[in-house]
Amino acid sequence: MIINKATYNFTAMNIKACIFDLDGVIVDTAVYHYKAWKRLANEMGFDFTEHQNEQLKGVSRMASLELILGWGNVTNKTEAEKLELATRKNDWYTEMIGQMTPAEILPGAREFVQACRDAGLKTAIGSASKNTPTILAKLELLPLFDAVVDGNSVSTPKPDPEVFLKGAEELNVEPSACVVFEDAIAGIEAAINGGMKTVGIGSPDMLTRADMVVSGLDKMTLDILDKL
Ligand code: BG6
Ligand code: MG
Repeated sequence: MIINKATYNFTAMNIKACIFDLDGVIVDTAVYHYKAWKRLANEMGFDFTEHQNEQLKGVSRMASLELILGWGNVTNKTEAEKLELATRKNDWYTEMIGQMTPAEILPGAREFVQACRDAGLKTAIGSASKNTPTILAKLELLPLFDAVVDGNSVSTPKPDPEVFLKGAEELNVEPSACVVFEDAIAGIEAAINGGMKTVGIGSPDMLTRADMVVSGLDKMTLDILDKL
């Protein structure tokens, strides 16, 4: 794609940066999270549906475990046991993402992030995942981002805006000049709470509070961004 920088006037539009959620926006890791959580639940003697799995999107590791234990009516676990369960799940998950290749980047993601950069916008990752560094390395995407803020560097999970505000700060861009791309309701809420513009990735029926929704970054263009 050839981008003519002069065509876009993002500064006048007050857009200076794009912050991308990772899981479900840049790469579809949800399937690996699902497999690993399902295995854990099965070991404890219960199961949960793919529909229930939707509720885990954007939710931190320990909060996901709490939801799953609730679905299985498991109420007798100590904090130490919960930590052990989450670690066991993460070991299976990291085994799976260890096999990932750049072929698993979602359609249009690399191209759109590159187009933003070519147009002079700053780019960052804002993810709840502590596995973000591994995933970005496996996908060979690290050079595409000016800042990476993830589950290792924030203390309050989405819908708290901490992860995105930290991203804006690292980019040295005011929150109102940032656009956040998110597939999770909690993530859209986090961006709104941080005073940022939002593009939902997924279904408009679910991401009702986003400024706009597209099915994937392959449907996103600088033209659309310019009109946000
Ligand atoms: C989010 C995912 O990006 O990261 C959640 O949508 C996941 O499903 C969360 O639980 C934390 O990920 P990790 O890799 O730190 O367990
Ligand atoms: Mg996500």
